[in-house]
Parts: sequence; C-alpha cells; structure tokens
Amino acid sequence: MKIRMQFIFAVVFLIVIGESLLVRAQEEATGIDSYTYEQNESCLKCHGHKLYFYYNEGVGHDVKERMNPYFIIDSAEYYASNHKNFTCTDCHSLECDDFPHSGQMRMEPKFACLDCHAGDEAYAKYDFEKIEVEFQKSVHFSRHSEDFTCSMCHNPHTYKINARTNENMAEFILYDNEICLTCHADISKYQLLTTKENPNVLKTHSWLPNQVLHFKKVRCLECHTEVNNDILVSHNILPKEQAVKQCVECHSKDSRLMASLYKYQFTGKRSKIGFSNDAMLEDSYVIGANRNYYLNMISIGLFGLVLIGIFIHALLRIIIKHK
Ligand code: HEC
Ligand code: HEC
Ligand code: HEC
Ligand code: HEC
Ligand code: HEC
Ligand code: HEC
Ligand code: HEC
Repeated sequence: MKIRMQFIFAVVFLIVIGESLLVRAQEEATGIDSYTYEQNESCLKCHGHKLYFYYNEGVGHDVKERMNPYFIIDSAEYYASNHKNFTCTDCHSLECDDFPHSGQMRMEPKFACLDCHAGDEAYAKYDFEKIEVEFQKSVHFSRHSEDFTCSMCHNPHTYKINARTNENMAEFILYDNEICLTCHADISKYQLLTTKENPNVLKTHSWLPNQVLHFKKVRCLECHTEVNNDILVSHNILPKEQAVKQCVECHSKDSRLMASLYKYQFTGKRSKIGFSNDAMLEDSYVIGANRNYYLNMISIGLFGLVLIGIFIHALLRIIIKHK
C-alpha cells in the first residue's frame, strides 16, 4: 500500500516537472510567456474561430454561432507579429472579458500607434514621428483625415516588420503590396472611407508592360511615394498625377530603386563596396541599371577568347586538311 502511494506520488511529480519543462521549452522557442497564451485563449476561443459557443441564459443551454469574419484573428499570425507578447486586454478594455460585450465597449476609442511609440528611444530607428508627418502629407490622410488611421494599413493584430528584416525580396514585396491591395482590390474596405468607385488596379496600370512581373519585382510604394532618405519606408503617397510613369526612373544607372526598394541592403553594403548600383542589384537584373566595370572587362575578355578559339580551331582544321 505504502509503496503504491509513493509510486503515484512519483508519477504525479514527474508529470508536473515534465509539464513545466514543456511550458519553459515553448516559452523559450517562441519568446512568449505562458501567461500571455492563457489570457489570450480566453478571447481566442471565440475570436480565433469561425464558430463560437456561449451559454444562453434565455434558452437555458449552449448556443453555437458564426463569428463575424472581420473579427476573427488568426492566432498563428498574431503570435508571429510585432505585438505577439501582448495580451488582448493590453489594448482592449477589460470589459471584453464579459460576454455579451457591453455596448459601451464599441464606443471606446482605440489606441493609435503613436500613443505607445512616440518619443520612445527603443524605437528611434523607425522614427515613428517622421513616419506620421509623412503620412499626414499623403493623399490618404489629406483626403480622409482622422478616418484614415495607421491601423488601416497596419493591422495591429498581424503586422510584422518585413522590409527591414525579411531577406527574401519576393516575400517582402508581396507582403507590402498586399497591404495596399486590402483596399485597392477590396471594395468593402475601400468604401469604409469613400463612396467613390474603386478603380481596378490591373486596368489603371495597363500601360505598364509585363505587369505581372513588375508587380512581383517592385512595390506599389516605389512609384507612388516621394523618396525620403530619413526613413526606410516612405509614407507620403502622392496624388496619381505624380506617380512614376517614366521607365528610365528605374531602368537606368541611377535607378530610383536604390533609394527605395533596395535601400536597406544598400545602406548596409555601401560602407563595404562603395556607392555602386551593382552592389545592390546582385539579386536581380533591371535592364539598364546593371553595369559593372569588371564584368564589362571580363565579358570583353571572354569575347576575345572566343575569337581566338575560333581562329585556332579554323587554323587546325586547315592544317589537318592539308596533311
Ligand atoms: C463568447 C465568445 C467571445 C469571447 C470569449 C470574447 N468575444 Fe469579443 N466578440 C464576440 C462577438 C460575437 C463579437 C461581435 C458582436 C458583439 O460585439 O457582441 C465580439 C466583438 C468584439 C470586439 C469588437 C467590438 C466592436 O463592436 O467594435 C472586440 C474588440 C472584442 N470582441 C474583443 C474581445 C476580447 C479582447 C476578448 C477577450 C478578453 C473577447 N472579445 C472575448 C465574442 C466573444
Ligand atoms: C497592439 C494593440 C492591440 C492588441 C494587442 C490587440 N488589439 Fe484588437 N484592435 C486594436 C485596434 C487598434 C483595433 C481597431 C482596428 C481598426 O480600427 O482598424 C482593434 C480591433 C479589434 C477587433 C475589431 C475588429 C475590427 O477590425 O474592428 C477585434 C475583434 C479585436 N481587436 C480583438 C482582439 C483580440 C481577440 C486580441 C488578442 C488576441 C486583440 N484584439 C489584441 C489593437 C489591438
Ligand atoms: C499599447 C501600446 C502599443 C500600440 C498601440 C502599438 N504598439 Fe507597437 N509595440 C509596442 C511594444 C511595447 C513593442 C515591443 C514588443 C516586444 O518587444 O515584444 C512594440 C513593437 C512594435 C514593433 C517592433 C519593434 C521591434 O524593434 O521589434 C513595430 C514595428 C511596431 N510595434 C509597430 C506598431 C504600429 C505600426 C502600431 C500601430 C498600428 C503599433 N506598433 C501600436 C507597443 C505598442
Ligand atoms: C497606406 C498604407 C500605410 C499607412 C497609412 C501607414 N503605413 Fe506604415 N508602412 C506601410 C508599408 C507598406 C510598410 C512596409 C512594411 C514592411 O515591409 O515592414 C510600412 C512600414 C512601417 C514601419 C516599419 C518601417 C521600418 O523602418 O521598418 C513603421 C514603424 C510604420 N510603417 C509605422 C506607421 C505609422 C506610425 C503610421 C501612421 C502614422 C503608418 N505606418 C501608416 C504602409 C502604411
Ligand atoms: C511602375 C510604377 C507603378 C507601380 C509599380 C504601381 N503604380 Fe499605381 N499608378 C502608376 C501611375 C503612373 C498611375 C497614374 C496612371 C494614369 O493616370 O494613367 C497610377 C495610378 C494608380 C491609382 C489611381 C487610379 C485611378 O485611376 O484613380 C491607384 C489607386 C494606384 N495606382 C494604386 C497602385 C497599387 C495599389 C499598386 C501596387 C499593387 C500600384 N499602384 C503600383 C504607377 C505605378
Ligand atoms: C484602408 C484602405 C486603403 C489602403 C490600405 C490603401 N489605400 Fe490608397 N486609397 C484609398 C482610398 C479610399 C483612396 C481614394 C482617395 C480619394 O480620392 O478620396 C485611395 C487613393 C489612392 C491613390 C490615388 C490618389 C489619387 O490621386 O487619386 C493612390 C495612388 C493610392 N491610393 C495608393 C495606395 C498605396 C500605394 C497603398 C499601399 C501603400 C494604398 N493606397 C493603401 C484607400 C486605401
Ligand atoms: C519602379 C521601377 C520600374 C519602372 C517605373 C519600370 N520598371 Fe520595368 N522593371 C523593373 C524591375 C525591378 C524589373 C524586374 C527585373 C528582374 O527581372 O529582376 C522590370 C522588368 C521589366 C521588363 C522585363 C525584363 C525581363 O527580364 O523580362 C521589361 C520589358 C520592362 N521592365 C519594361 C519597362 C517599361 C517599358 C517601363 C515603362 C513603361 C518600365 N519597365 C517601368 C522596374 C521598373
């Protein structure tokens, strides 16, 4: 009897140790503590799924309903985002814990990015203040003022810095373009702001040859923003009349892409390789922009070698024929 009790204790002890080790391992792997997971689960059990349940006092049993698709938060995306360490109630009212949520909650003002990020040394490299100034000059803000918030482009639940961190160009170009397309390819979000018709992006850019390739290789931002050297991502979206339409703005030796799309790699490498377009364009070939002195010399050299090769070949054939 005594032995059995000890055995049970030992097993329970091992399970507890095992679990806490697992939790530690999870925390270390993701950098998110278990408290955050637990807290968020009380929201994500509803907001993480298409269907949710609650006890309906009126009818006296559990009721299953569909979640508004715009209120569904993908937990995988959430835990990969900049704010993955946040509990929902860091930004939302504690009243959210009650269901049904109070009507008052709907009226509550939401946090803006600058409420937390303004003047904080930790984020100086992003320069949130300058981004805000630029954004306020943009067509979006100047036409729609406060209705057009940073969150319209930066979903606070899913936004993850890309241009600065993602070394896969194709991926971050796609990521950035999709931000614009959440409105410019979706009438319902666009019409939160205006009753104007939403011009079809494919049609309005039909002048651009090889459109599919261009949209994979450059961002909307490249043509629609004013170049700004103080911040990594220019935020001043200009009126359409001022958008880049001249091919040579990119397809030239002084391609504007050096000051926008390739800016991050560029500033990183400049110190090592010197001011040179070639340093930036290793990964892609933009007609007209790639020109490298040594490559030119090598290709002239190769051309010479080929000529000599042909000459020797011909000479040998003549000698052999005459033998
Ligand atoms: C029982 C399911 C359930 C739980 C749990 C739940 N919600 Fe909700 N939530 C809903 C539903 C349904 C709606 C939309 C209808 C409504 O507003 O009541 C909603 C709406 C919201 C809204 C949008 C309010 C608005 O109208 O703008 C926010 C924000 C929100 N929930 C946050 C939270 C947070 C944060 C938690 C966790 C602390 C949470 N919810 C827990 C079901 C739930
Ligand atoms: C960094 C702050 C922040 C965190 C953390 C956060 N939210 Fe939000 N949430 C916001 C803001 C800001 C809005 C308003 C978005 C807008 O106006 O486009 C919002 C909107 C919502 C909405 C309404 C959807 C909509 O588009 O209006 C729901 C539902 C919601 N949040 C649930 C949650 C849940 C659940 C969590 C935790 C998993 C959470 N939020 C964590 C800032 C946050
Ligand atoms: C409630 C305060 C709060 C709000 C609102 C908020 N943030 Fe943050 N944000 C933080 C904190 C705190 C961190 C650091 C998180 C960490 O290190 O785990 C952070 C991290 C970030 C980072 C990553 C910084 C880094 O170097 O890793 C970016 C980028 C960012 N936020 C952008 C935004 C944007 C854009 C908005 C508006 C849509 C926003 N934040 C809204 C508090 C906030
Ligand atoms: C019209 C859409 C749009 C609006 C509005 C917008 N942004 Fe951005 N922002 C972007 C895009 C696209 C990127 C590039 C995202 C990436 O790759 O990280 C970006 C990048 C950023 C970055 C990361 C820059 C870096 O150096 O890595 C921060 C921080 C940021 N925005 C803050 C803000 C703030 C604050 C506001 C509001 C004052 C705002 N944004 C409004 C589209 C927008
Ligand atoms: C190669 C440069 C270039 C790229 C890349 C580009 N645009 Fe444009 N865009 C233009 C030019 C130039 C115009 C003006 C066209 C005209 O007036 O004929 C324009 C027009 C527009 C308009 C106004 C349409 C109208 O008729 O009102 C919108 C909106 C727009 N672009 C959004 C986008 C989005 C979103 C992306 C990314 C998916 C994008 N653009 C990528 C150059 C570009
Ligand atoms: C939240 C929705 C939304 C997002 C996200 C968005 N836009 Fe817009 N955009 C609009 C609306 C609405 C208009 C129409 C403004 C007006 O004329 O009232 C507009 C207009 C434009 C125009 C045309 C300006 C003109 O002169 O008529 C351009 C160019 C443009 N957006 C580019 C972009 C780019 C580039 C991005 C991504 C960085 C982007 N937009 C993201 C809603 C959005
Ligand atoms: C915003 C910068 C930008 C502008 C403006 C631009 N291009 Fe491009 N273009 C690129 C990039 C980047 C590529 C892709 C290079 C690669 O394959 O990596 C490309 C590719 C091309 C290609 C395809 C080359 C191939 O490999 O198949 C053609 C053709 C082309 N552009 C013609 C034009 C013409 C004509 C215009 C003006 C109407 C124009 N481009 C405007 C940046 C630009």
